[in-house]
Amino acid sequence: MSTSLENAVVEVCASVGNDPSRLVDVAREIQARFGCVPGEAVDGIHRHLGVSRPTVRSLVSFYSFLSEEPKGRIVIRLCDDPVDRLFGYERVQKAFSDELGIPIGGTTADGAFSLERTACIGMSDHAPAALVNETPVTELSTDKAREIVAELRAHMSPERLVKKLGDGNNGHPLVRSMVKNHIRKAGPIVLTEHRHREATQKAAAMSPAEVIRAVKAARLRGRGGAGFPTGIKWEMARAAPGARKFLVCNADEGEPGTFKDRVLLTEFPDRVLAGMTIAGYAIGAKEGILYLRAEYAYLRRFLEDVLARRRAEGFLGKSIAARHSFDFDIRIQMGAGAYVCGEESALLNSCEGLRGDPRNRPPFPAQKGYLGFPTIVNNVETLACVARILDAGPATFSEYGTKQSAGSKLLSISGDVGMAGVYEVPFGVTLREVLALADSRETQAVQIGGPSGRMIGPADFDRTICYDDLSTGGAMAVFGPDRNPIEIARLYMEFFEDESCGYCTPCRVGNGLLRRGLDKVLAGRGEPSDLVQFEEVARTMKATSRCGLGQTSFNPVLTTLTSFRPLFDSLVKEDPKKFRRSFDLEASTREAARIRTGGAR
Ligand SMILES: Cc1cc2nc3c(=O)[nH]c(=O)nc-3n(C[C@H](O)[C@H](O)[C@H](O)COP(=O)(O)O)c2cc1C
Ligand code: SF4
Ligand code: FES
Repeated sequence: MSTSLENAVVEVCASVGNDPSRLVDVAREIQARFGCVPGEAVDGIHRHLGVSRPTVRSLVSFYSFLSEEPKGRIVIRLCDDPVDRLFGYERVQKAFSDELGIPIGGTTADGAFSLERTACIGMSDHAPAALVNETPVTELSTDKAREIVAELRAHMSPERLVKKLGDGNNGHPLVRSMVKNHIRKAGPIVLTEHRHREATQKAAAMSPAEVIRAVKAARLRGRGGAGFPTGIKWEMARAAPGARKFLVCNADEGEPGTFKDRVLLTEFPDRVLAGMTIAGYAIGAKEGILYLRAEYAYLRRFLEDVLARRRAEGFLGKSIAARHSFDFDIRIQMGAGAYVCGEESALLNSCEGLRGDPRNRPPFPAQKGYLGFPTIVNNVETLACVARILDAGPATFSEYGTKQSAGSKLLSISGDVGMAGVYEVPFGVTLREVLALADSRETQAVQIGGPSGRMIGPADFDRTICYDDLSTGGAMAVFGPDRNPIEIARLYMEFFEDESCGYCTPCRVGNGLLRRGLDKVLAGRGEPSDLVQFEEVARTMKATSRCGLGQTSFNPVLTTLTSFRPLFDSLVKEDPKKFRRSFDLEASTREAARIRTGGAR
């Protein structure tokens, strides 16, 4: 091992106290310094952290921001989600490839640049978008792509690509990004004046049980997608035996099309951190972790600064708000690029320095979570709501929205709309009303709740956004009349194929089967039996997959089938002679000849 690599491994491992549960941090840092985590570094990490070589290797292969093979000093990651495709991904990708002389997945011969595609980076309101190392570059065009490459060749400094700062805290000296918040509609619950200090002080004047009662009285349910009642979850963790307890904020925000947590973290970090502190107090946790997705690394220094200020103000650390025994502090855990890490048990594995494989349940994280201790994982928006409930009182919160779905919901709206951005709406609002707010015209389809949500057509636009009807974590991708919903569903299935952790066969195989089935339909080779097979595959996946990814990832296919049945029917035909239309006679004959003669493929 070269001396510099050896020294770096020693230094980086020592910086986390040679703690094996910080393996993700160690691997990230080595990757940042050397452009990869080479085999020699794996040996060094094995020696210094006491983690087996296969464990380190499999971790490096799991996360998309880590690699054993050298990457360029600058890695350009282009988001290739459906929304970016609508807005010119292909053209932009070609411009980058032409300028750099490499395809997607390539690295220039001088080791300066790598070009990759990636899933949603949380910038769907700025599509097409990309990350240049940690710097988001937004609203790309072919000209911009050429300019970016020329500039980078001149100074090799991604930060200098930012000429015009975005709004609000995007212009903060510790952020300095071109990203805009795009807050299009603020409501009275989350995107409003908050008194986060008073919220924490009020909690400190109450007992933990009273805080939980307030959250239950407000009827707060999780905003991360599943909608579990927050107070009940907290009670489970509070009651669970454990020498330590943990509160984790899930800022993984990987569901394609969602970006509202990005806006909350940029513009309202104090209320999210106050929510974490109050939640920690309620469940009896003294330690908090903010799990920040790798794609939002550009916010890290800013958030560290807010944490330092809160410590100095007495809102983190010992005896918070002068209450003896109210001790709580927060550390930031960076992700390393994996959608499945948004699933709470996968996220906990990632926090523990492991691959982000989801865990079997039970036990639930509230019983046995981070490092085996009772842990609550809450979404960023849920925690912002907690601060509001304490600040304004449960009644103010629950007056808004509907009986079953109290409060407001932040929606991240992107795609074919005049005004992409974040909207705070009361639960109970109809989709039609939301589409009008976002200035959408002739909308053909809306993917609501991200790829694992549902694709709906105009017949359903009078349905309401709430837990009992159109339940959503907040992503809303809108598609106009020229888009093909089946092609969009296919792209979402490709996403799930890439993002499945591969642990269970139904998910690993099922996503590919469904994607290939849609390929057949789109190529005009589909048969009615394929549509029946979609449902069978989905049933198996739902019943036998281990985590929420495989239990819902077939939704783009099934919901598109439900909402756009005539489109499928127009493409799918039974062969009058009862031959299988998908059967390729020529290819099969060639294959049979190859097998007979023992020839190469
Ligand atoms: C594949 C997958 C990805 C998820 N991604 C996120 C995410 O990015 N953010 C989030 O808050 N919840 C996500 N969830 C839901 C979490 O598992 C968990 O339910 C949530 O963080 C709980 O917080 P809440 O009760 O405040 O909603 C995901 C779930 C699955 C199955
Ligand atoms: S359902 Fe999919 S993502 Fe979840 S554990 Fe199984 S293979 Fe992994
Ligand atoms: S950043 Fe491209 S779809 Fe989200």
